[in-house]
Amino acid sequence: MMKGIGVKMLKRFYPKRTAESTYVIDYKKLYQEGYRGIIFDIDNTLVRHDEDATDRAIELFKHIKEIGFKSCLISNNDEERVKRFNKDIKTNYIFDAHKPSRKNYIKATKIMGTTIDTTIFIGDQLFTDIYGANRTGMMSYLVKPISPKEEIQIVFKRRLEKIVLYFYHRDMNKRRSNIVLIGFMGCGKSSVGKALAKQLGYNFIDTDMMIEKKVGSSISQIFETKGEEYFRDMESRILKGILSTINGAVISTGGGLPMRSKNREALKRIGKVVYLKGSKELLVQRLSKDTTRPLLKGEDISKRVDVLLKERSHIYEELAHRIINIDGKSISEIVDEITKR
Ligand code: S3P
Repeated sequence: MMKGIGVKMLKRFYPKRTAESTYVIDYKKLYQEGYRGIIFDIDNTLVRHDEDATDRAIELFKHIKEIGFKSCLISNNDEERVKRFNKDIKTNYIFDAHKPSRKNYIKATKIMGTTIDTTIFIGDQLFTDIYGANRTGMMSYLVKPISPKEEIQIVFKRRLEKIVLYFYHRDMNKRRSNIVLIGFMGCGKSSVGKALAKQLGYNFIDTDMMIEKKVGSSISQIFETKGEEYFRDMESRILKGILSTINGAVISTGGGLPMRSKNREALKRIGKVVYLKGSKELLVQRLSKDTTRPLLKGEDISKRVDVLLKERSHIYEELAHRIINIDGKSISEIVDEITKR
């Protein structure tokens, strides 16, 4: 399979967005996002290859005009083909466009009176339509071709497109899923989490830090002044927020967070759950001088860890998609183990 540099090179062909069809895109939303111009490819994007404008194509142009969009067709086909399609649409057009050359993408923005940043390109081919839009710096939207019947030179290109799309989808899935770190106090969720996020190019989120920021005081103070129940409610609330908004992040969780069953449900939906499992001895050793964790204050650390571990370890194990034993391993060894699979 292709690695490193090869895959990086393919990224130039990745569309910024994709849709099943030109006709299912939410154009009102695009307008709200600040876009003002749309450039369309014609064949297999708006109609079948060489087909005249259909009713739904005519409707589409009416619809986007009503929203406030300017539009322009750009096609690598000749004047006759483009004019014939445009007969009932009556928008701007450029024929013999030589996509993926940038020239006519830029010309289209000039015709529409828009800028690169406020223009969207919609097309069905990666190596001409999408590549050209990407080179120009424009938002590129890939749609599925309308008809499976294509000319022979396009059939060959489609095979190559399939390879690029395979890597595109793989990268998108990777990007979308979060990694959630769970485990007992002192197992290194925050330090491993930060290093892991750095390696993957993900954001790093720590639920304890989020709570401290939201409440404006330290975890110890929250336990002292508002009580543990308040803190646990905050954990659940924070989790709900993460569930609906966060993608592509490493999330380090407080050691007690998975104890509520509804939190466990949320964690499973947020991403891949990794349990950093340390032996009692290691955890006691790491926690023996700790002064920040309210659950350990004034207690015999060894006994306390023993009791809590008995209550919690089976919950961590049941919840985890993966368990990583951390004893004797450095942070980078743990990160490598997580990313290996
Ligand atoms: C807790 C663990 C702490 C923090 C709070 C309660 C627990 O987080 O959320 O002190 O119940 O185990 P760490 O696991 O990051 O220490």
